[in-house]
Amino acid sequence: MDGGGANGDAAARQDSVQAVAWEEDAVRLLDQRRLPGAERYLSLSRATEVAEAIRDMVVRGAPAIGIAAAYAVVLAARAAWRCAGTDWRQAARPELQRLERARPTAVHLRWAVRRMRDRFAAIPGEPTPALLAEARALHREDMAANRRIGALGADFIGGPARVLTHCNAGALATGGYGTALGVVRSLHARGALRAVYVCESRPWLQGARLTAWELQRDGIPVTLIADAAAPGFMARGEIDWVVVGADRIAANGDVVNKIGTYAHAVAARHHGLGFLVAASAATIDAAMATGAGIPIERRAPEELLAGCGWQRLPPGIEAANPVFDLTPAALVGGIVTERGVVAPPGRDRVRALLAAEGGD
Ligand code: MRU
Repeated sequence: MDGGGANGDAAARQDSVQAVAWEEDAVRLLDQRRLPGAERYLSLSRATEVAEAIRDMVVRGAPAIGIAAAYAVVLAARAAWRCAGTDWRQAARPELQRLERARPTAVHLRWAVRRMRDRFAAIPGEPTPALLAEARALHREDMAANRRIGALGADFIGGPARVLTHCNAGALATGGYGTALGVVRSLHARGALRAVYVCESRPWLQGARLTAWELQRDGIPVTLIADAAAPGFMARGEIDWVVVGADRIAANGDVVNKIGTYAHAVAARHHGLGFLVAASAATIDAAMATGAGIPIERRAPEELLAGCGWQRLPPGIEAANPVFDLTPAALVGGIVTERGVVAPPGRDRVRALLAAEGGD
């Protein structure tokens, strides 16, 4: 068991679940496909296995898959050193490419693999210690960013609020604490959370299965609603703020997040409600001018069809399953990152945020 890594103390973090950890020379992943029915952990010691786990949603959520990929680079480099010695950089390359391609939408996979690869040149011998230190640093930085995002987001919202969130942008989706759920946790800790509504987030049910479980487990009362119920709750004045995470943010402030986010943004604008995106600065892809260029992952139709559970469907029905959507910057009230809030977001403000201290 690793006591000195990024794992930290759950009580101090105000969350009790850890999606990704480095433990006993392997990547330990909480299998999110099985939640909330079973809390099972997989211990993976090969980078290929981690890439498959990312593709198959054992671990999901943009920052969490980036952290898992960073630890997987350690595994890839260790294996490459064992079989190729000083040629390890070249030998590890196919595994790195596999990791980068495991899922297309969140920028965090490429970002994390590139950050790890940038360390390669300066490593003199066996690469594991230096790369493990880098992966742990990346993991710790994400946890620290989320604490700050939570505090800044709660400041931005100000008074007591009833929050609607979508998908899972919590401890399960990050190194810990969460981004959108970081804001929720901060509001709760301040006594300023009047209610939190979570949408099911069909078809994979990240909201119903994961966010509801995570908040309930941490003693934060949560109310589950159907995705399509959200505008009605807004119309009846039962929601003050929509707070969501992001998988990738373009340079102009366009936001790509879980399918259904755009509909909430349209409804929030119609009802004059705040729409806040909570994400680490690493989520901003400065090379992507607008959201139109961000690839939207399409997953197997079976996920959509199976998501209907007990209901019978017409046999042989066609199904399209884009799992993210694009919310234009014009519908986003603010983006809160660990470096500050851009409100409303736009190209110049996003650029200034990235140029601020800690900029890449
Ligand atoms: O398909 P998923 O479950 O990986 O999608 C996750 C989301 O869309 C989250 O909202 C996003 O990654 C932000 S997590 C801090």
